[in-house]
Amino acid sequence: MYEDLSPQDAAKYAAGKAAVERYAKDGARLGLGSGTTSGWFVRALGERVAEGLDIVGVPTSNSTRDLALSLNIKLIDLNDLSEPLDVTIDGPDEVDKDGDMIKGGGACLLWERLVAEASRKMVCIADNSKLVDHLGNFPLPIEVIPYGWKATRRSIAALLKDLGYEDKEIIQRHKNGEPVITDSGNFILDVKLDKITDKALLDTNLNWLAGVVENGLFTGIASEIIMASPDGSFEII
Ligand code: 5RP
Repeated sequence: MYEDLSPQDAAKYAAGKAAVERYAKDGARLGLGSGTTSGWFVRALGERVAEGLDIVGVPTSNSTRDLALSLNIKLIDLNDLSEPLDVTIDGPDEVDKDGDMIKGGGACLLWERLVAEASRKMVCIADNSKLVDHLGNFPLPIEVIPYGWKATRRSIAALLKDLGYEDKEIIQRHKNGEPVITDSGNFILDVKLDKITDKALLDTNLNWLAGVVENGLFTGIASEIIMASPDGSFEII
């Protein structure tokens, strides 16, 4: 249906379409991820909805909400769920073979984790460029509340030093010269750790710090990876 896609977009579309075929059954309640890969998933879902598929979705960002609504996908509020979603489908910035991920390149990490944790299952969809041996080359996003954010940054730096990550620069994310503000009104700090060796420990300890709302290291959350190639083939990991 989509012509002239770049090789990477063709792979993202293949991953999204495979997720629709596996999980978008009539009556399904789905978490809808954010970012470009999830955008292809939502478009593939919209194609099936236009053919009569009956599903409801919970979006993980305002941008996914807008895309889903433009495709006539029915949405519900996370607060209106009386039981977990069936599955959340979302893309990573990096993913390893355990299914652990760095997320938040699009600043949607907080809602992404909330929706994933409100689901029975989380499936990671990715083009094969996202698979890495070790997480950490992609800067880890950390969402912090604006109040006292520089003090929070010092706490993060101290924690990282304690965990053996020396001299890592923690940078406040900007776009067009302005601080990025998340859908929940917070700031994003990015820190490139190069090689994360203690994933669960780092994930847990970051979220213990006052001022940290969420971090983009998603450990033990995805139970399946749909990894696609530009030729449209995919494998389930
Ligand atoms: C947004 C995210 C995205 O899912 C992640 O950045 C991947 O994006 P893309 O599919 O565009 O590479 O976590 O916060």
